[in-house]
Amino acid sequence: MSYFIVFAGKGGTGKSTLAALTVRYLREKKLMPVLAVDADPNFCLPELLGISSFETLAEIRDNALNSKPEGMSLDEWLEIELNRIVEESEGFDLLVMGRPEGSGCYCAVNNVLKRILQEISEQYKYIVIDNEAGMEHISRGIVNKIDLLFIIGTPAKSSLQAALRINELSKELNLSPERRILVINQATEKLEEHRIFSSYFEKVSYLCFDEEIKRISEKGGSIFSLKNHSSVIRDFYSLLEEEIGR
Ligand SMILES: Nc1ncnc2c1ncn2[C@@H]1O[C@H](COP(=O)(O)OP(=O)(O)O)[C@@H](O)[C@H]1O
Ligand SMILES: [Mg+2]
Repeated sequence: MSYFIVFAGKGGTGKSTLAALTVRYLREKKLMPVLAVDADPNFCLPELLGISSFETLAEIRDNALNSKPEGMSLDEWLEIELNRIVEESEGFDLLVMGRPEGSGCYCAVNNVLKRILQEISEQYKYIVIDNEAGMEHISRGIVNKIDLLFIIGTPAKSSLQAALRINELSKELNLSPERRILVINQATEKLEEHRIFSSYFEKVSYLCFDEEIKRISEKGGSIFSLKNHSSVIRDFYSLLEEEIGR
């Protein structure tokens, strides 16, 4: 059974950065096979994982009915197309969801896609999902299981309030993640007032602000170029070790 690691939180908190670091961690620990899923329409994960050319699931969804060869069923065609767009990289594969549905109705396509996605995901031991700010893909049933939910916030009050809302939403969606972890990222200090969060989450962790991470994103570099001595790597890897090794 695949192990689903999902990142959620307000935009700009560090979801994509930490999702990419998780892929790096799994690759380094040889915990494979890994599927990374970029479920944010403003995809950032490919760049962070050093992948520059890819097609999105949205593109194949929108073209499916027109591009399907005659005589082939929608199921067969989407399966071929989906397998084609899963990018194979060193130590992990990547699937980019792309933008949500446009004005057309893709119900038939979506239902088939959901089923094929589930079949594809069964081939992976670890699935890392970089979510959009809301929980759209999850609420639409594309993800129906979460083992480890990282809700990312920054010390900004609005972002921690968003983290609490997302936490509530994840409960309402009946996904019952085994573990819900609040990560207060880009932090400069631990604040006493954060203690209240420990009653809402299995764990509350801090990651500090790291100049090199910021520089990598400004230059458009990949997370694989981040130096091993970064304290974010040290602290986040030990959090992953504790959680995934449980
Ligand atoms: N611990 C950190 N230290 C410094 N900058 C960070 C840290 N985590 C994330 N960032 C930066 O914050 C910005 C937003 O991060 P990103 O991962 O794209 O967030 P999200 O996916 O939640 O929108 C990026 O410029 C990223 O490099
Ligand atoms: Mg992002």
